Amino acid sequence: MADSEEVELEARLEEQDSFEPPASFVEQANVADPAIYDEFDAKWPDCWERAATMLDWDDDYETVLDDSTPPFYEWFTGGSLNVSTNCLDRHLDERGDEVAIEWVGEPVDEANRSITYRELHREVNEFAAALREIGVGEDDVVTMYMPMVPELPVAMLACARIGAPHSVVFAGFSAGALATRMNAADSEYLVTCDGYYRRGDPLDHLGKANDGLADVGHETETVVVDRLGPNGDDFGHDLADAHHGYADLVAAHEGAEIAPVSRDAEDMLFLMYTSGTTGEPKGVKHTTGGYLSWVTWTSHAVLDIKPEDTYFCAADLGWITGHSYIVYGPLSLGTTTMMYEGTPDHPDYDRLWQIVEEYGATQLYTAPTAIRAFMKWGEEFPARHDLSSLRLLGTVGEPINPRAWKWYYTHIGDEECPVVDTWWQTETGGMVVTTLPGIGRMKPGSAGPPLPGADAQVVDTVGESVEAGRAGYLTVQKPWPGMLRTLYDNDERFVEEYWAEYSDTDSSDPDDWVYSPEDGAKVDTDGYITVLGRVDDVLNVSGHRLGTMEIESAIVGVDGVAEAAVVGGDHELKGEAVHAYVISEDDQNETEALRRRIVQAVEDEIGPIARPERVVLTGDLPKTRSGKIMRRLLENVSDGEPLGDTSTLRNPEIVEEIQRRAVE
Ligand code: WTA
Repeated sequence: MADSEEVELEARLEEQDSFEPPASFVEQANVADPAIYDEFDAKWPDCWERAATMLDWDDDYETVLDDSTPPFYEWFTGGSLNVSTNCLDRHLDERGDEVAIEWVGEPVDEANRSITYRELHREVNEFAAALREIGVGEDDVVTMYMPMVPELPVAMLACARIGAPHSVVFAGFSAGALATRMNAADSEYLVTCDGYYRRGDPLDHLGKANDGLADVGHETETVVVDRLGPNGDDFGHDLADAHHGYADLVAAHEGAEIAPVSRDAEDMLFLMYTSGTTGEPKGVKHTTGGYLSWVTWTSHAVLDIKPEDTYFCAADLGWITGHSYIVYGPLSLGTTTMMYEGTPDHPDYDRLWQIVEEYGATQLYTAPTAIRAFMKWGEEFPARHDLSSLRLLGTVGEPINPRAWKWYYTHIGDEECPVVDTWWQTETGGMVVTTLPGIGRMKPGSAGPPLPGADAQVVDTVGESVEAGRAGYLTVQKPWPGMLRTLYDNDERFVEEYWAEYSDTDSSDPDDWVYSPEDGAKVDTDGYITVLGRVDDVLNVSGHRLGTMEIESAIVGVDGVAEAAVVGGDHELKGEAVHAYVISEDDQNETEALRRRIVQAVEDEIGPIARPERVVLTGDLPKTRSGKIMRRLLENVSDGEPLGDTSTLRNPEIVEEIQRRAVE
């Protein structure tokens, strides 16, 4: 395209604030009739049978929703099913030889794996038999600490087959984070690997896993996948030593067939630990019937997945997006789901586009932080490839600004693909607010209306709906099947964290209960919701949720640190970056050494993703008269913004000193 044409196009797009779904898409969309919104409202909660009947049940459910003891809702009660049957067995007759998982390994010369439904079914059965052999029983929590290797979805599905909930811990988390999660879940089993590749180099992983296991307060059995082969020799692990080798276990059970355990709809499918406002991660509990119905339905209605697609979600399986929209939703629909082990910038900035072209990917679902990086690298990288196989684009994880949205729409989608900006959380299990791509006009920057049957509303501090255009808080006013059921072993915290804000917690009337996701939002006159970001002390760094308290508690554990406050500073690519404001004891002279120890402590306790971008050492922190740290002021310092009113501070003079030190 000539430069002047390009400039014109950009200018036209900059001005346009809404887009119709492309006609070519609407024609073939899984859901294209706008009547669905009214239909679902009229039939609520029975509308959710539309989702539940997409699954194969062993015993039919009796009740769609049991709301007799809010907020402990139960969905599809009386029903029973097995998730691995729904994701594997039921596809074997028609799609057994089709690819279930296209696995693209990190080193470019790696032997990639196309795993058919039949092969996946077989390996899942063999590994399920192996898990039983090492002692895993129904309801035992199996922890997985692995990067994007095919053995991870195999292990997840094997657990689902035998009714053992899994708890996947992101491989980038530290040994300490692994131990905290295994201890919290009383998990006696771990599946991990020797290492993996990053930008071409082998990386030790088992060393971290072993360090974590040393801090687990009970006996454990560990299975290790040999990912690196001889390239891992330098790390000095004896894989046969103390742990079970994955390949040996599977070989010992060659051809095993494990009858799927029929699980109650409300039985736990998995736990996923996520950050909250206290230092302790929260174990979000998802169930078998409601969760699988939700992710299957939304994969169909929003991602428009069809069995013959090659669907590509570039998230990591260590987060909820990978669970819901790489494994469970897509496999339940019998499609081909892709898994990419590496990073988008290796060996070059066009790696994802090369994969899309090579495999003919039909959807791409990724995070705004990745899109901002693609923009920065430049449109010449996608332009090198034929991306015409793409039919739909999606984003998740943080607000996307209209410029990035339009860049994605133009340079990746060639203005032919609808973009779904999907708002949801670990706790919601799957999408809650987004346009339906075959129906809704798209407004860049705004996620869209709530899904049919989902009752998301923006309210003020006392829970009243706000006027269009005014900022308020996002809430969900009615339960939905994919919702978290509770926090593992902690019903009280579940009520406190998600419901107490706007509910009458003494009431047993479900109308008095409102779910509070802790996000700021506004709504326009068409009912489109724009999510503004977290309103609690949780940061969103590159689409990953990190609790400031967790980071602060790692920092105050460092010798020489008296107190710490962590806030998010604006960051061009990451969205938010971790900025730490630290009071050092006796105003240490060795500031550089202290800074290094602080950064190291955060990496050790949480992982490199939480590494502070900036550590400001100061004599004091801005505090209110009651002693509460004024984080808002620190955020303003971080972003170089005007401070506003400091008169309510006990120590207003400190702010200038901090400002001075922040730029040092
Ligand atoms: C944010 C990720 C704006 C939000 C699936 C939420 C978003 C948190 C969007 C959950 C979006 C997610 N627009 N913000 N489309 N999607 N968020 O649990 O703050 O890792 O509360 O789940 O990400 O993050 P989590």
